[in-house]
Amino acid sequence: MYKLSALYLAFAASFTTAAQTCSSGSISKPTLFNGRITSLKATQVNDFDLGGGTSVSFCNVSLTYTHPGEGDNINVQVWLPTKLGWNSRFQGVGGGGWTTGLTPSSMGAAVNAGYAAGGTDGGHNGSLPTDTWALLSPGNVNLYLLQDFASVALNDMTVLGKQVTENFYGKKIKKSYWNGCSTGGRQGLMLAQRYPDAYDGILAQSPAINWNPFTMGQFWPYQAMRDVGYVPSPCELNALRNASIEACDELDGLKDGVIGAPGLCKFNPFSVVGKRYTCDGGADGKSGRISRAGATVAMKFWQGARSATGAFEWFGYAHDSAVDSTANTTCSSNGKCVGVPFAIAEDWIRLFVQKDANFDPTKMSQAEFDTVYHKAIQEYDSIIGTSDPDLSRFKAGGGKMITWHGMADPTIMFNGTVDYFQRVLRLDPHARDFYRFFMAPGVAHCGGGAGAAPTNPLEQLVSWVETGHAPDTIPANHTVEETEWKRYLCQYPKISVYKGGNPARADSYKCE
Ligand SMILES: *[C@@H]1O[C@H](CO)[C@@H](O)[C@H](O)[C@H]1NC(C)=O
Ligand SMILES: *[C@@H]1O[C@H](CO)[C@@H](O)[C@H](O)[C@H]1NC(C)=O
Ligand SMILES: *[C@@H]1O[C@H](CO)[C@@H](O)[C@H](O)[C@H]1NC(C)=O
Ligand SMILES: *[C@@H]1O[C@H](CO)[C@@H](O)[C@H](O)[C@H]1NC(C)=O
Ligand SMILES: *[C@@H]1O[C@H](CO)[C@@H](O)[C@H](O)[C@H]1NC(C)=O
Ligand SMILES: *[C@@H]1O[C@H](CO)[C@@H](O)[C@H](O)[C@H]1NC(C)=O
Repeated sequence: MYKLSALYLAFAASFTTAAQTCSSGSISKPTLFNGRITSLKATQVNDFDLGGGTSVSFCNVSLTYTHPGEGDNINVQVWLPTKLGWNSRFQGVGGGGWTTGLTPSSMGAAVNAGYAAGGTDGGHNGSLPTDTWALLSPGNVNLYLLQDFASVALNDMTVLGKQVTENFYGKKIKKSYWNGCSTGGRQGLMLAQRYPDAYDGILAQSPAINWNPFTMGQFWPYQAMRDVGYVPSPCELNALRNASIEACDELDGLKDGVIGAPGLCKFNPFSVVGKRYTCDGGADGKSGRISRAGATVAMKFWQGARSATGAFEWFGYAHDSAVDSTANTTCSSNGKCVGVPFAIAEDWIRLFVQKDANFDPTKMSQAEFDTVYHKAIQEYDSIIGTSDPDLSRFKAGGGKMITWHGMADPTIMFNGTVDYFQRVLRLDPHARDFYRFFMAPGVAHCGGGAGAAPTNPLEQLVSWVETGHAPDTIPANHTVEETEWKRYLCQYPKISVYKGGNPARADSYKCE
């Protein structure tokens, strides 16, 4: 259970006001050993709207720099709270998908909590098609930009952001934190692995680690439909998903639409072949009966990528994961359905592995899929794999890290994170002294889904770093039929089991 006194201590930080005015001339240019700063601009931003009636005011320091010889041009922004004052902490804010960072809503949320917030675009605009930056010419990947996205720009931003923050307030930063989910979660682990001194605390949520095998695994459902020679409608796949939830929901003690004990779920999709399902038609497909081929596709979706000879390539998705993400399909009015490959995986294969903007991943045979899988790992694991379990330097520096992952994540396989954490523990059986992993039953990618997601895991991290209070559980909540249910996420390998009582109360569950 969480100690309120510890929480209070962790947040009783004093707020500091600026020592400098927010203007381009008054803030000293920071230095970067591997970079040349090409511009610094500072402007006061007042009442920046975060939605929901919240707004923040901050000094927006924006920097551009290049790594001389690499031809890149990277934008870094540091948002320094002015009106509210500064809580003496720095927060590096992660990205998502192909976006390295600089997401205004995340930067604003950090400022709203009193942090000086830093973000980088890594030298490319993640909202534009990946074709705009991935290749220098046919066959030649822009490896410098990939490296910026994967690792280098994250540390640069931290080095620059800390200098700007300390210069603006005329005071040392007390503690620094990384906060990211998905790509941002992978970035957090990259920092712990490669730049272990950059942050005191890292919140690496639903991390896109194991980049190469998992990205191939995201393409796998499409590949599986191609190999089976059948494209089920979203309706048929949802009927299979629903049948598995029906079969396995209560194994964790509570019927709530969440498979909380996947290890006990032995659902066999072939047992529901012939069962009727109903849909309205349209893009989700028409009503029908579950087919053997449809059950095969579902089985492969849950099992995960396998080579032509049946060798393990990557983990699959949980039975309660949504099927419309990496196993998305769409149907026309005549009932014919086509697969919709997952865009990030398609781009990765086409632009980075095959290095050919015209390559069509949707035409790969299983043998070609296996070749691409091998090539991706060979060429890119050292750049973006982010799967090194050796966190000893981060531990030695006193760092603390928290990861949580939704067990029904439909894009990044939950079991990949389990596998990573197990490898960390194998190397260091005492790893929980500095790194804890929490499982979120029923939660989708970075939130959403039928399960309870953490309410504010950064609070637990700050408390751990600053007061030494290591979290055993993480408070979480979700909405069930318009009421808020409170839960606690359990620390791996414990799962949350319903004890009885009001299911909306956290104390009706225990971790075992
Ligand atoms: C911060 O400054 C940069 C550079 O001038 C600008 O592009 C960006 O829009 C500014 N951000 C906000 C929230 O004003
Ligand atoms: C990135 O691209 C998006 C989509 O075209 C555009 O709206 C946005 O302004 C671009 N961002 C920057 C910083 O250029
Ligand atoms: C699956 O279950 C959901 C939630 O109960 C329901 O909305 C949906 O219609 C079901 N889909 C099928 C194909 O049975
Ligand atoms: C994930 O791991 C659990 C526990 O080992 C296992 O029961 C489950 O089948 C795995 N799921 C997938 C999709 O690989
Ligand atoms: C699935 O594919 C259809 C057709 O391309 C698209 O409209 C829909 O947004 C996709 N679903 C998701 C969740 O991406
Ligand atoms: C969960 O709790 C947070 C913090 O109290 C609150 O802002 C959020 O609305 C709650 N979410 C749900 C789904 O009840």
